[in-house]
Amino acid sequence: MGEVLVACQLCGSLVDVVYDWQRLRPPASLDFFESKWSRRHEPLCASGVWRFHELLPFAAPSAVVTIGEGQTLLHQSAPVAGYVGLKSGELYLQYEGLNPSGSFKDNGMSAAFTHARSIGAVRAACASTGNTSASLALYCSVTRLLKGLIFIGSGKISYGKLAQALDHGALTVQIAGDFDDAMQRVKEVSQQLGIYLVNSVNPFRLEGQKTIMYRVLEGLRWQVPDWIVVPGGNLGNSSAFGKAFDELRQLGLVDRVPRLAVINAVGANTLFELYETRRLRWNGGNADWSIVDRYYDELDQGGRRASTIASAIEINRPVNLAKCLRALEVCDGVVREVSDQEILDAKAQVGAGGLGCEPASAASVAGARALCREGVISTDERVVCILTGHQLKDPTATVAYHTTDQTMFNEQLGRRGVKRAAFANRAVAVSNNLEEIIKAIRLYS
Ligand code: F0G
Repeated sequence: MGEVLVACQLCGSLVDVVYDWQRLRPPASLDFFESKWSRRHEPLCASGVWRFHELLPFAAPSAVVTIGEGQTLLHQSAPVAGYVGLKSGELYLQYEGLNPSGSFKDNGMSAAFTHARSIGAVRAACASTGNTSASLALYCSVTRLLKGLIFIGSGKISYGKLAQALDHGALTVQIAGDFDDAMQRVKEVSQQLGIYLVNSVNPFRLEGQKTIMYRVLEGLRWQVPDWIVVPGGNLGNSSAFGKAFDELRQLGLVDRVPRLAVINAVGANTLFELYETRRLRWNGGNADWSIVDRYYDELDQGGRRASTIASAIEINRPVNLAKCLRALEVCDGVVREVSDQEILDAKAQVGAGGLGCEPASAASVAGARALCREGVISTDERVVCILTGHQLKDPTATVAYHTTDQTMFNEQLGRRGVKRAAFANRAVAVSNNLEEIIKAIRLYS
């Protein structure tokens, strides 16, 4: 009781939530959801997840757990379009930093909590690079439905995120290792102690994350964009997006699906390596898993660990690899890797162009730029980059980029191969003297 079955007990593959659409009768057109805007006083309509309840109908409306997640923005950004290399008006940023805990994870957490409550769970656990744990801790503290247990790698999580876990009172276990180690341990611990697991191995998490795509479509007045570009870590989002579009197409609610680009950091590039270099494909469910085994053996033999400034996606063994491969097949996808330098430059452009994000989120913008440069994305295509987490999640990375303190720059970024901060907005140091202050303002404005 209280445990979620995430994998098939025979073959070990992760399970999916599958609906009997014939019986459930989803709406005949996507505009149906617009009528819910007029009922925003109802929690199920105010939530950007549960407004789409008919497309994730695994629980009765009365069983839904919501804290108002998913009230996020699709923002059209001309400055960022210019940076990426697109025509003005064609670049959109889906800003998931507006969620209650500051990242997209809340979309999935409300769905996981809904399921956890329905099966009588009392404790929930996750391993995290910081955002899942922040979200779990927040849902525990607000709803009081479950007690949270968090596993993090030591020194691997940004202070903004660690602060959230601690402040919301979750039991936080810092293990000597990285995310991949923590993930392995949390699976063992949850199984032994019968604790509900809320990592994205949990298929209900992905049901909630599908709604990010529904909101993108809603923001575009139900027009399908040409590209969705998303950072790839544990590959839950990309898997959920592929499932969302596959279902919408099967239901006849869209007539085409967008192409999907999943962006890894160079220092955590398992998907890129497997998909682009070694040509691993879903192949209708018959992927050649020996390619993966061989790659993981090589990682182990070389003692190679994930390492990137984008700590949220510092993951070498993505748990949703199979589902992501399926999504790439559904959406004719591509995978790219971007350096820490490219990530931070893109992040500075996003910050200067409107909405601030954390480093991992900016991988999507850096990836879109790389794909435009290659000509894979053409300048007049409509592109949506997912900004997965808020700027304040990782202030250290931002301040280090803009700093005038060379020691800080080197300690935080230089050691990762970041050479320059081309878009730095440096604070101006001035003595505490009115004339000097006015002189400095005139000089720099
Ligand atoms: N962006 C942010 C800000 C994240 O926190 C994560 C994942 C990702 C992107 C990658 O998403 O796993 O669906 O491919 N963070 C997880 C965590 C791993 O523990 O918070 P994904």
